[in-house]
Amino acid sequence: MEICVIGAGYVGLTTAAVLADLGHTICCVDTNSEKIKQLKRGEVPIYEPGLSELISKNKDRLTFSSKVVENIQKTAVIFIAVGTPSLADGRTDLTYIQSVVDEIAEGIKSYKTIITKSTVPPGTNENIYKMLKETGVDPKLFNVVSNPEFLREGSAISDMIKPDKIVVGKQQEDQKSLSVVKNIYKNINAPFIITSLNGAEMIKYTSNAFLATKISFINEIARICDKYNVNIEDVSKGIGTDPRISPHFLSSGIGYGGSCFPKDVRSLEHSALDRNVTPQLLQAVQAVNHSQVNLYIDKLSVFIDDFSEKTIAVLGVAFKPNTDDIRYSPAVSLIEKLSSLGSIVQTYDPKALLPLAMMEMVSQHIKLEQAIMNADCVVIATDWDEFKQLNWLKVKELMKGKYILDARNCIEPQVVRDAGLTYIGVARP
Ligand code: UDX
Repeated sequence: MEICVIGAGYVGLTTAAVLADLGHTICCVDTNSEKIKQLKRGEVPIYEPGLSELISKNKDRLTFSSKVVENIQKTAVIFIAVGTPSLADGRTDLTYIQSVVDEIAEGIKSYKTIITKSTVPPGTNENIYKMLKETGVDPKLFNVVSNPEFLREGSAISDMIKPDKIVVGKQQEDQKSLSVVKNIYKNINAPFIITSLNGAEMIKYTSNAFLATKISFINEIARICDKYNVNIEDVSKGIGTDPRISPHFLSSGIGYGGSCFPKDVRSLEHSALDRNVTPQLLQAVQAVNHSQVNLYIDKLSVFIDDFSEKTIAVLGVAFKPNTDDIRYSPAVSLIEKLSSLGSIVQTYDPKALLPLAMMEMVSQHIKLEQAIMNADCVVIATDWDEFKQLNWLKVKELMKGKYILDARNCIEPQVVRDAGLTYIGVARP
């Protein structure tokens, strides 16, 4: 099939590359002509394992263009994969979706199946349908489908090739789109979940909100375990064997971050409030997450009474390992907090870089040893494998002090203690 993917960001590029690999002919379009030029040169602007290889493997079937309207005209299937960032109040910014709707309205001459991959609040796809109709587009010329993605950074390609489900939201009267979508994914082995447009949007938000809830839940339990001298790892393992709970997303630590969970939970809260539902649980999930950095600082303050002039090495800046993404990274919030307390912060991350604006208050090192040098305390803020395998005797030699704060529960406390260092964690007796 010939498909136009609108948006050459993280979701758009992954979708385009995987669809091309499934044998479809794809044109991925974006109004950012610099980005398109880069992609045409074979440079992939984001770091995602395997993406660059998949794009180059399928280069005969995958083209890039900044001519959005022209390509919309040419293809019968359009994927919308533009960004839906947060506004300052936490609502979802639908400006890019609105621009795409305008471009589709301009370029529609023949029948189109319009498939939304972007994460959008409930009601958005119905609005896309209404907006197109209101701009005068003949409703016989299009159908709107919601087909959310469930991609994790770092494993986006395998998540798309081997999904646990394919969610398709469509209008009840739409008799055409399901067979189009089934045809697109015919080489993927996964059950189809077929629902309404709002239903598909809700599945996406609920999925992320549920996972975020598991994290805040185990983080709250860790606070209680801490007071009773109980190892949270034992509790996670103990409850995770129950298939109704499952062992996943039960790692306690400094909290969730990234481009999805914080934004989507907040957006869902707004969707609830808009219809006079007070989402008490979603609010609590966010409150717990926001207070995780302070919890870890409080833990540290038992050992460090004055943070000013103390040198603190923060290992890990990315919101999780195997990515260079620092969006809503709890490690970044921790660095900001330590700097505001007057500490000298030295950071290291195998992939991620801090924004230039932060460079005045933090020194960022390309070598782990330099970040640790003369530190009073070392904080593990992202659970990169590299940090799990540290030689603690060597770390001790480089440090001035002896405190190790494990904010990801990824280090064996005894190994640190055996090196003569003091291990600090939450619910890690
Ligand atoms: C997430 C969803 O998993 C994915 O399905 C959705 O499409 C986008 O959002 P991603 O943001 O890539 O994917 O990260 P994920 O691996 O889910 O981790 C999110 C955050 O939760 C990270 O900060 C991670 O460190 C944290 N986390 C995860 C925990 O603190 N504890 C856990 O047990 C699991």
